[in-house]
Amino acid sequence: MAYVKRIQITRRSLDSLSPEVLVLGLFEDGELSDFHKNIDEAAAGALSQRIEIGDFEGKAGKTLSIFPGKPANRILLVGLGKREDFTLDRLRQAAGTAVKTVQASKIDTMASEVPGGDALKSAAAEVSQAWVEGLILGSYRFLDYKSDTEDATVMNRITLINGASRVGVERGRAVAEAVCFARDLANHPSNVATPARLVTEARRIARSSGMRCKVMGRDQFTQMGMGAFASVARGADEPPKFILIQYSGGKKGEKPFAFVGKGITFDTGGISIKPSSKMDEMKFDMCGAATVLGIMQAVGRLKPKVNIVGAIAATENMPGGHATKPGDIVRAYNGKTIEILNTDAEGRLVLADALAYVSQKHDPRYMVNFATLTGAVIIALGHVASGVMGNDEKLIDAIRKAAEASGEKVWPLPLWDEYCDDIKSKIADVKNLGAPRQAGTIAGGAFLKEFVGETPWAHVDIAGTAWRDKDQPYMPAGPSGVGIRLSLELLNILG
Ligand code: BES
Ligand code: MN
Ligand code: ZN
Repeated sequence: MAYVKRIQITRRSLDSLSPEVLVLGLFEDGELSDFHKNIDEAAAGALSQRIEIGDFEGKAGKTLSIFPGKPANRILLVGLGKREDFTLDRLRQAAGTAVKTVQASKIDTMASEVPGGDALKSAAAEVSQAWVEGLILGSYRFLDYKSDTEDATVMNRITLINGASRVGVERGRAVAEAVCFARDLANHPSNVATPARLVTEARRIARSSGMRCKVMGRDQFTQMGMGAFASVARGADEPPKFILIQYSGGKKGEKPFAFVGKGITFDTGGISIKPSSKMDEMKFDMCGAATVLGIMQAVGRLKPKVNIVGAIAATENMPGGHATKPGDIVRAYNGKTIEILNTDAEGRLVLADALAYVSQKHDPRYMVNFATLTGAVIIALGHVASGVMGNDEKLIDAIRKAAEASGEKVWPLPLWDEYCDDIKSKIADVKNLGAPRQAGTIAGGAFLKEFVGETPWAHVDIAGTAWRDKDQPYMPAGPSGVGIRLSLELLNILG
């Protein structure tokens, strides 16, 4: 959960606040803003002295605590790096570093400026939003199942004293809390974060902001013709669910944006079973679904003036007496037949039906799916960027812009005809595998393309970015909640 309670903006003077700790951001050039100079004066030069003797160089990721007594007991300097390299994402990172440092000192209130805005071309609201996102996301911990260890320090109050925009702070809160919610959902193990639990969360989100929520069980979606989704769910005793959430913020009848998520709550591989090493990580195979739920939660609070559909295909992928076997052929919602050559390529199967359904029933303006689809995307892009591919250049360009604005990197891969030929089956319309050991991520995208019809669509493969082993300034090791901030930017760009 996010370990930040209240964030407030004040115009009161520092003297009257006398915070336990005051956070200031400094660039490598050592230049103090007018606001910094006032504080330095009140601190009898404690700030400028430490900088002069070289104790603090403003490098990104570095901090220094000083204890001047006035105007705050402690001042925490946080490095912003080089002024000319500064970005909103650097700002988010600095915020994450700052909040973690304060929490580590077990201090539960802090005051801070919103630093670095003058070095950016962004509007004040965007700068405040990024700072608040960094604070909340940086405070994130998941300790739900720890009974005998100390809890992390809750920041009961963060007071922003200089440069804060109310709109930006509120937006940052809504967005970051949605990301933390998605991280929590992903962190819960598969015996807790079941398809039914995803339904509970979807209903809660829908109820809290007047959205419609529709859920179909196994019999219902099988009868409707979702043979691909049903084939994955066959091996699982845990009841699968197809979840739809509809948000109406735009005009009646206006085409919606659609977000579709892969919700494999555990991926054993099915009969094409995975090796046991690191199989536990396959509880994260529902991260695409968590992203869609996070988007809808944030949308419910931000209320953009567009229509949005969120869709999730949720099931376990299990081996068992009823499970689909390699070579089996099934028919998807759009009528195409699929030869299932590997039951571990299940994400594209559940998405095939979800994408076909949403494209036919909701005729979206744009449709974007998020899926931990291929291990191959980690080979191609590591844990740095998500792979993006699709059938619409304008949408892909907009996603790339949204990635830049949100700091959630994406990189495009082509869906050329040669790749699309690789998923043709000898015996059915398509097969769920491409050419052996070749362009595995693209094969996934090429397969999905068969099911989107004419809808402008993009597939974001988040297998490398949905969780990481390494701590980052505003992302502790574990699930990242990737795709939510990106999608909200996308709605800004295309909405
Ligand atoms: N969920 C996995 C992909 C994955 C693997 C995500 C590792 C994150 C880390 C997906 O269902 C899968 O098993 N994909 C196969 C596809 C293959 C059989 C064509 C893969 O990547 O090996
Ligand atoms: Mn799989
Ligand atoms: Zn999977």
